[in-house]
Amino acid sequence: MVNRRYTLLALFLLFFFGVLYHFQNQKSSLISIFSQTHFTTTKLPKKENQRPVNNQTYPAFRHPLAPPYPYPYEFLINQPDKCKDRTPFLVILISGRLNELEARNAIRATWGNESNYDVDVLRLFSLGFLGSVSDRTQLMLEEESKAFGDIIQQDFMDTSYNLTLKSLMGIEWVTKFCPKASYAIKTDNDMFLNVDYLVHKLLHPELPVRQNYITGLIVSGTAPSRNKAYKYYLPTEVYPNNTFPTYCAGSGYVFSADMAQKMYDISQEIRVIPIEDAFNGICLHELHIPPTIPPQGIFNGHHIQYNRCQFHKLITAHQYTSDQLRSMWQDFWTLKSSGCT
Ligand SMILES: *[C@@H]1O[C@H](CO)[C@@H](O)[C@H](O)[C@H]1NC(C)=O
Ligand SMILES: *[C@@H]1O[C@H](CO)[C@@H](O)[C@H](O)[C@H]1NC(C)=O
Ligand SMILES: *[C@@H]1O[C@H](CO)[C@@H](O)[C@H](O)[C@H]1NC(C)=O
Ligand SMILES: *[C@@H]1O[C@H](CO)[C@@H](O)[C@H](O)[C@H]1NC(C)=O
Repeated sequence: MVNRRYTLLALFLLFFFGVLYHFQNQKSSLISIFSQTHFTTTKLPKKENQRPVNNQTYPAFRHPLAPPYPYPYEFLINQPDKCKDRTPFLVILISGRLNELEARNAIRATWGNESNYDVDVLRLFSLGFLGSVSDRTQLMLEEESKAFGDIIQQDFMDTSYNLTLKSLMGIEWVTKFCPKASYAIKTDNDMFLNVDYLVHKLLHPELPVRQNYITGLIVSGTAPSRNKAYKYYLPTEVYPNNTFPTYCAGSGYVFSADMAQKMYDISQEIRVIPIEDAFNGICLHELHIPPTIPPQGIFNGHHIQYNRCQFHKLITAHQYTSDQLRSMWQDFWTLKSSGCT
C-alpha cells in the first residue's frame, strides 16, 4: 500500500518536472511580457532600448494611457542649427498647444524676448502633432516657424496624456542640438517667467556651471490617482507604485545641460508615465540624483496677482492670459524694481 503510493508520487513528480522543462522557454517569455506591462519603473530589457523600437512587442502590450516611448519620433519642425554659432546660457523650453499662437506671441514680446537679456537666452516652443501634415493649423505653424525660428515639433499626438513626450522632446533637443548650453528651463505658455532673476540670482553666470542640478517647485509625498473620474487618472498597469518620488512641478523646472542628457538616456530604459512632472521624479529616482531645494517662494505653480515688487523677487507664477502678460510686462520691464526695497 505505502510502496504503491510512493511509486505514484514518483511518477507524478517525473511527469510534473518533464512538463515544466518542456515549457521553460514559453514560461520565461510570458514572465517578461508580464513585467513589461505591469512594472512601470522596471528597466526595459536591454535589446529593446535600441532604436528603432521593436514595435511588435512593446506597443502591442502597452496600456493606451502610457505614452509610446522610446519610439523614433521624427521632428516635423526643427531648429537643428540654432546652437551652431552660439552657446546659450539658458534654453527656455515652453510647452503649449498648437493653436495657441496668441500665447506664443505674447511670450515673444515679453519674458521670452531674447534680446532683453545680457546673457544668451534661447527660446523654443515645444509642440506635438494633430495628425495631418496638410492640416491648416500645421501649415500655419510651418509659416510661424519660418518667421520666428523658435518652434520644435515631433510627430506624436498633441494630447494631455502625451505631455511627457513634449518635455522629452525638449531634453532630446538640448542633448542633440545644443549640448554646450549651460542650463535649460522647462515651462508652459501660460506662465510668467522672471528670466533676469533666474539668471542672476539663482544660476549666476559668473560661477562654473553646476552638474547634476535640477530645481523648481519641489513636490513630495504625492500619490497617483486611481480614480478614473480624475484628469490625471493613472492605472496601476501604467505605474504600479502607490507614491511618486519627489519631483519638480511642471510649471517650471531648471536643470543643467548634463541633466538633459542623463534624463534623456534614462528615459530610454524606463516606463514613461503620462504625468509629465511626476515623470521627472521617476528619472531622478532612477538616476539617484535628488532635486536641489530652491529658496522659498521663488517658484510658484499658482496664480499670483501682479505686484511689481513681488514679481521682481520670484521666478515663476502661473495662469496668465496673453493680455495679462503683456500689460504686466509693460510695468515690470519699463519700471523694473523702482520703488521697491
Ligand atoms: C513596425 O511597424 C511597421 C509599420 O506598422 C512595420 O512595417 C515594421 O515591420 C514593424 N517593425 C517591427 C520590428 O515589427
Ligand atoms: C524685443 O526687444 C527688443 C529690444 O529690447 C525690441 O526691439 C523688439 O521689438 C522686441 N521684440 C518683440 C517681439 O517685442
Ligand atoms: C500619444 O501619441 C501617440 C503617437 O502619436 C499616439 O499613438 C497615442 O494615441 C497618443 N496617446 C494619447 C493617450 O493621446
Ligand atoms: C517602486 O517600488 C519598488 C518596490 O518598493 C521600488 O524598488 C522602486 O524603487 C519604486 N519606484 C519608484 C519610482 O518609486
